[in-house]
Amino acid sequence: MTRPAPALGVYVHWPYCARICPYCDFNVVRDRGKVAEQAALVRAILDDLRAQRALTGPRTLVSIFLGGGTPSLMDPAAAAEIITLARSLWTPRIGSGGLEVTLEANPTDAETDRFAAFAQAGVTRLSLGVQALDDASLAFLGRNHDAAAARRAAAVAGKVFPRLSLDLIYALPGQTEADWSEALAAALDLGPEHLSPYQLTLEPGTAFDRAVRRGRFQPADEIRSEALFNLTQAVLEGAGFDAYEVSNHARGETARSRHNLVYWQGEDYVGAGPGAHGRLTLDGRRTATAAARGIGDYIAAVGTDGNGFAAEILAPREAAEERLLMGLRIDQGVAFAELEPLGLTPASPVVADLVAQGLLTPGNDRLRATRSGRLVLDWLTGKLAVS
Ligand SMILES: C[S@@+](CC[C@H](N)C(=O)[O-])C[C@H]1O[C@@H](n2cnc3c(N)ncnc32)[C@H](O)[C@@H]1O
Ligand code: SF4
Repeated sequence: MTRPAPALGVYVHWPYCARICPYCDFNVVRDRGKVAEQAALVRAILDDLRAQRALTGPRTLVSIFLGGGTPSLMDPAAAAEIITLARSLWTPRIGSGGLEVTLEANPTDAETDRFAAFAQAGVTRLSLGVQALDDASLAFLGRNHDAAAARRAAAVAGKVFPRLSLDLIYALPGQTEADWSEALAAALDLGPEHLSPYQLTLEPGTAFDRAVRRGRFQPADEIRSEALFNLTQAVLEGAGFDAYEVSNHARGETARSRHNLVYWQGEDYVGAGPGAHGRLTLDGRRTATAAARGIGDYIAAVGTDGNGFAAEILAPREAAEERLLMGLRIDQGVAFAELEPLGLTPASPVVADLVAQGLLTPGNDRLRATRSGRLVLDWLTGKLAVS
């Protein structure tokens, strides 16, 4: 019996931002209003999607994610073209919440004014980067909006889109548990169904990384970071949000991000746009795709090769390591059957040892991290992968 083709998510990367934030190391460029370049990028993304449809064949489409960068700066008509094409190339899921279409947005007034047009274009879920809800923290983070603009954006988004998620950044220098409790309460007041609180990470090569090296500020230490992480879990659990992933909390199953579950459950996704990654099961083999990072390089690659990416077939061990890394992030964990190439079973000494340490949950079918295990995920996956 042939197995049904795996379901599919589509990720589209829009690299332009109004301002580059000092902590960010995503593949981004300043938006200098290059209209012709942006129009060429939209055409290249559309061509790339068509080319990837030829590879994947027919699939059930569960999610489209317009990420960045700042896709809320995109012309809503371009977003509509991309969404309409993806919906026609693959078969949108019917039932179980249907097709999720997420747009990442920054909460400036100019972008808020366009939310209705994005909803009209087919966006069903807004992921709003409020980051903080007090002006001092927003100024520290180098954001180009204040807390009042973030509140206005959330209020409009709540009316325009069926689903709303908020991104927050915590463990800012000097941030106390009282400060962070207040920020979480302010975010909950905005009525989202989903929250993604990320601990501030110093990414090499960013302005924040250089500032810390020069002694301009001290990042939160491990003890403070752990206290703030535990506080996040307790406050959001108390407010009825499940911590279904390390940094993702949803008010009930239907509020979980279907797109992120595609990544964490090891499903297939097409990546289009500069620097976008994809994972496709082609002829039974896990294939990793990576698009050229430069905007010009990406457009040129689509023009000459038909698609914008280079593909690599992952060895079974490599694919299993990736499953381990992704699967342990979520509450449901990863099936032992998927970890066979790593030789991991419920009886493996390393598994028994980590269960005894309270970092893994005992179980015969799935390998799952406990809350303490999720706190030391990199260490944990390192231990399991080399055992
Ligand atoms: C693609 S980014 C940005 C989306 C949108 N452009 C914005 O800035 O609101 C997605 C999220 O990653 C988080 N993020 C980016 N860099 C980070 C860092 N160094 N530490 C913690 N969170 C970070 C932010 O919360 C951000 O909203
Ligand atoms: S955090 Fe968002 S707005 Fe800031 S540079 Fe990164 S992608 Fe752009």
